[in-house]
Amino acid sequence: MFTQHRPHDHVFYRNPTKYYPEADYGQGIYIIDTEGKRYIDGCSGAVVVSIGHGSEKVKQAMLEQADRIAFAHGSQFTTRPAMDLAARLVDMAPDGLKWVYFLSGGSEAIETAVKMARQYQVDRGVPSKYKVISRWSSYHGNTLGALALSGHTGRRKYYQPLIQHTPHIAPAYCYRCPLGRKPESCSLECAEELEKAILYEGPDSVSAFIAEPVVGATAGALVPKDGYFQRIREICDQYDVLLIVDEVMTGIGRTGRNFGVDHWSVTPDLLVCAKGLASGYTPLFCAMASEPIHKAIREGNGNFVHGHTYSQNPLSCAVALAVLDTIEENNLVQRSAEMGKVLLKELRELYKHTIVGDIRGLGLFAGVEFVQNRETRAPFPPQHKITNRITNRAFEKGLIVYPGSGGADGVHGDHILLAPPFIISREQIADLVAILDQTISEVSSELTQEDLI
Ligand SMILES: Cc1ncc(COP(=O)(O)O)c(C=O)c1O
Repeated sequence: MFTQHRPHDHVFYRNPTKYYPEADYGQGIYIIDTEGKRYIDGCSGAVVVSIGHGSEKVKQAMLEQADRIAFAHGSQFTTRPAMDLAARLVDMAPDGLKWVYFLSGGSEAIETAVKMARQYQVDRGVPSKYKVISRWSSYHGNTLGALALSGHTGRRKYYQPLIQHTPHIAPAYCYRCPLGRKPESCSLECAEELEKAILYEGPDSVSAFIAEPVVGATAGALVPKDGYFQRIREICDQYDVLLIVDEVMTGIGRTGRNFGVDHWSVTPDLLVCAKGLASGYTPLFCAMASEPIHKAIREGNGNFVHGHTYSQNPLSCAVALAVLDTIEENNLVQRSAEMGKVLLKELRELYKHTIVGDIRGLGLFAGVEFVQNRETRAPFPPQHKITNRITNRAFEKGLIVYPGSGGADGVHGDHILLAPPFIISREQIADLVAILDQTISEVSSELTQEDLI
């Protein structure tokens, strides 16, 4: 039976039957609810809060910009914060990405990049190219277009009749290599899958390939083997296919470099970023494009046939500038790299629990995958709800982790993401891991022998 937890509460929650504590205020890596309970924000909400909660500097920037002008429509004006932020991002991004289109959601930014790719193909005179290839065990957003690209069975299931069929290839998932390889026998066959897919689909029809540099939500910080993205770039070049990197989670320092692809010195044609850009202080994302894409559109149609009400919002751009200042002044990208190593080292202690199958990550972006049998790497049956049990128990204990399931084959697989704000200290990492350790101990001890077969 449905219980309304609070009378007069008409918010349509993600899970209408769940009781959500009321967040009162945020301070550094902590969120404090109205009952006074303190939580370690171990995953920055959903890998969002890069600089931590409660920044005075961001508050001041917000006030100053709101005092001048909070909104000017992107079809009528430009603004100083939008221009300054675009210039900053071009400086930070891989060489060649020169144009920045601001949006207010990750899915919106993904669809913008896909539409830029498509209009580029039409405007340069290759209208046959329209398909976008993506990967299984990936996530690119929940709007119908972005969901079509996402390779997550659970998130797609309900909406299947509404989503367009698009080609997907195997992920670069070393712990569960979909092509049956071991690290020693791997020749990046998963990258070669892209070439096969392009040939099957017909190179004349393929506009772009999209991938997350390190897969986040749907598989728990999957780091590809070195060489993977370089090979992907070569294949894209060979078949005149654009490379779109989805840095919605990995962008702006999360993996210890400005962008995830910086680890492999790859320049994409389009880059989508990032939750951490405004660090949760305002909704702001962007799609960045190379000069050839911008040129084809400006010299072709002349207009990018697209737009959203809050594109280039000056208040959001001013906030993001203050976030980037904070990151730069405090060397937070470097800190994400350093603290990421500390986090991974501490997390590896959790291998003492037999249900921990794999621990992986890059920078402050780490995943822990749970298995029923460590030797065979067999995942738990989904009805065991291991991820939920771990996530809920950790939450009760004051630690927020990001849950994920279905990574192994779309249905099976349990993992959590740890991605705390970049300001986390060594002591706070120790606290985080201690709570997680206790959580896994308790959940493990509640599993019966049958659960573990
Ligand atoms: C890699 C990636 N792309 C796109 C999205 C969609 O972003 P949003 O939830 O802001 O629409 C997400 C959200 O988690 C994501 O992780």
